[in-house]
This record gives sequence, structure tokens and C-alpha cells, in this order.
Amino acid sequence: MIHRVRLPERGLFEAWRSAARIAISHRIAPEDIDWSDTFGLFEAAPLPDQAGPHQARVPPAFLRLAGSVIWHSAPERLGLLYQALWRIDRQQGDPLSQADPLGRRLNLMAKSVGRDIHKMHAFVRFRELPRTSRRRFAAWFEPEHDTLEPGSAFFVKRFADMDWIIASPRLTARYEAGKLSFHPGSIRPDLPKDASQELWATYYANIFNPARVKLAAMRAEMPKKYWKNLPETRLIPDMLKDAEARVARMHAAAAGIPRPGALPVSPRYRAAMPVPADLPDSLDAAGKAALQCRRCQLCEAATQTVWGEGAPSARLMLVGEQPGDREDLEGRPFVGPAGLLLREVMSDAGINPHEVWLTNAVKHFKFTPRGKKRLHQNPDRQEILHCRWWLRLELSFIRPELVVAFGASAAFALTGNAAPLTPRRGRIETGLHGGPVLITWHPSAILRQKSEAAMQLRRELAGDLASAASFAPAI
Ligand code: URA
Repeated sequence: MIHRVRLPERGLFEAWRSAARIAISHRIAPEDIDWSDTFGLFEAAPLPDQAGPHQARVPPAFLRLAGSVIWHSAPERLGLLYQALWRIDRQQGDPLSQADPLGRRLNLMAKSVGRDIHKMHAFVRFRELPRTSRRRFAAWFEPEHDTLEPGSAFFVKRFADMDWIIASPRLTARYEAGKLSFHPGSIRPDLPKDASQELWATYYANIFNPARVKLAAMRAEMPKKYWKNLPETRLIPDMLKDAEARVARMHAAAAGIPRPGALPVSPRYRAAMPVPADLPDSLDAAGKAALQCRRCQLCEAATQTVWGEGAPSARLMLVGEQPGDREDLEGRPFVGPAGLLLREVMSDAGINPHEVWLTNAVKHFKFTPRGKKRLHQNPDRQEILHCRWWLRLELSFIRPELVVAFGASAAFALTGNAAPLTPRRGRIETGLHGGPVLITWHPSAILRQKSEAAMQLRRELAGDLASAASFAPAI
């Protein structure tokens, strides 16, 4: 008798696991199970409902491998995994090892799934939809395997503050008001490759709106009684509602006047740098005014103010700590060793430096002289707070959709949170300006590490930048 197993499309891993657990507990041999849910020549029966007497030992390494292989698109994967489980239970060789033909095949499948998930994280390109109560984004993606379900956790973690959908041919992941759900896939829109933002937005607005999803496909996949459970638009407090008020408060503070607590600036510097008469009313004017800043004493030893650069209408703003030796001399951000590394990683992530706004939390180089060298020193809290005035001014003119904070100083400047970086890395926090801030490593942290650790940090930085690019694509 062949046993037939019917598995759901969603929650596949858990379903396969419990079916396999029952099958092995009854010692049902691999050749007696049809995992494909199509049965022709042989009589077929479902698996027993209850577990049998045999208790199999399942090593965690098998579960890890199975948790990955299960998303492979090859139909035979379910049977192959059960064969491996069967052999582990019977102690027939090591079906997890690369030296075993079955192990090699499963490991290759897991690798291919891993690559597919990685590609999804790097290449999903969100487009913003017309706003309702929360910011909404949508993307179309065609994974090679069934990886949207396992791959979605990454987007939940990063884009927790907004609503989004990722539509694919087999499945649609929908994240609304903090809840992730999966729905039938959709048809690739018949739009030209270079379709404008507006066209895509119209398409997505249609598939995003539960009232307008493809009804025939839905009926086929889901009985009508479940329709009422589809997410509805909820009124969520607008995370940006306070932004205007904040900018107004910021404008109320004067530009060139040292803030309380700032160390005195020497008369030499004060005479050379007159306080600008008016508050800057454009990004350009702000940059010019910043050249004369003396809100703290860092201006004294530094060569010049290093203002941000890039596209004034950028959707993505990248914020470092402070200029380094090279930046101080050239008057441009990220042109030294950390900058070169950053530009490389940005290019891997598909980010064009001309399409973003690149700047620093602190606009003057802080250093201590050592012989002929000037050694970088971290800015202290007060220096960061003084310079935040400029950062906020930059933010108010650029109005980016997403800000990336490189390292602890930038994270503190942007969010006011000085907590350690490691647990925050890769997460999106709400900035003091009211918008989302993605926290990630500073490129110079990578330069300070030995090769293994450096590779890991670099991969993480690249992943964060790729998700930043997908969150706020240039077009
Ligand atoms: N490090 C930064 O944080 N910013 C720069 O501009 C250069 C190095």
C-alpha cells in the first residue's frame, strides 16, 4: 500500500515535518510514500492520524538542512528528505554529508535555496504607493524556488514600521499593521520594463487593495467564507505627523551661535568666521552657512566644514560619523579609505552615490596629533548634539524616505538612542525627525577587523544597503 501525503502550500515545513514524524514512527519505508499528491497506478491511502510506537532520533543538523531544502522547487525534495530521515534513523551511513550522494544532492539544494533567498533580499525593489494612513510599498519578484515565505522574515524585521506587499507568481506576502500573511500569487503585470513609477504604483495599488485582488484566483484558492478575514485598512497614527513641528522648532534655533555647554571658540576663529545673519532657507544656503559654524570647538583644529553631497532630492540619505583626515583636506565626505570601501559596498548593493545624499553626523574632523599623523577621535556626545542642528537642517531639506546610520555616533545623532549598536544593526528605528532610520555598521569598523570578521561585517553592511536600496529605490 502506498501512502499519499497532501501538504499545504503555506506552512509547508511544519506540515512536512509532522507528516514525516508520523510516517517514521510507523516505520513506513520511503518507497511506500507518495509525497507528490498525485497517484496513478497504485492504490493509495493517507498516512495514519496518530504517531506510531517507534521514536526516531532526529539530529538538529537534519532539521536545519530540511528547513532549507523544503523551499526548493524540485518536487522530489520531499521524498529525498524522507529518505535521508529514514537512513539516519536506520543508521545507514551519513546522508547529511557531502561525501554521500544523497547528502550532496540535499546540500546543493539547500545552497541553491540560500542563494535564492539572498537574491530576493538584495533585488526586491519596493515602490511607494499612494499613502493611506501608513506608508505603503509594493514589489514584484520572481524567485527561482518557493522562497518568498522563508525570505519574508527579513523584510518584516527591516520594514516593520510600514505596510508592504511582495507579489510573486506563486505567493503574495502581505505585511499590514504589523501582521504578515500570505495569499495566492498574482500574474506579472504587463508593463514595459522601463515602466514609470506611476504605472507601477497604479498596478500595485490594485493588487494591494484587498477589495481588488484577482477574484477568480482568490475563489480558486480560498473559500469565500475566509474573505472577511482579509486585512482592512486600519487607521494607524501617522509616524511623520510630528515632522513639520519638529522642523519648525529646529528653525527657531540660531545657526552660528554656540549652544550652551559648548567650549569657547577662540577669538581668532570667531573673527574669521562671522555669524550668518539669516537662517538658511535652502540646502545650498545651509551648506554655505555650515562653513562658518562655530557651535563647538571642533572648527578650530579642522581644516574645513565637510558638508554633505549628492542628490538634493535623494530618497536615501547615508550618514557617517565625521570626516576623516582625507575628507578634512578635500572638503568632501567619504573620500578616504572608509569611503572607498563604502563606495564599493554601495556599488554591490546597486546604489549610485550620485543618487543619494551622503553626509556625516558631525561636520568637522576631530583628531589628536601624533607625529606627522592626525589620529581620528570619536566625537563626544556634546559635539554630536551641537552638530545635530546641521543634520536636522539637512534632513529637513532633503526629506529622504530612509536614512541609513553608519555606526554608533550617527545612530545616536539620528535617533537620540545611545544603546550599543550590535543588537540594533539591521533594524529600522524611528529617527528624531520622525522618519525611518536603518542602523548598520560603519565601514571603518570593517577596516579595523581581521579578515574573517571583516568579511562577515561587510556582508552584513552590504545586505543592509541592499535593503535600503529596495526600500528607497532611486527611481
Ligand atoms: N568616516 C565617516 O564617518 N565619514 C567620512 O566622511 C569619512 C570617514
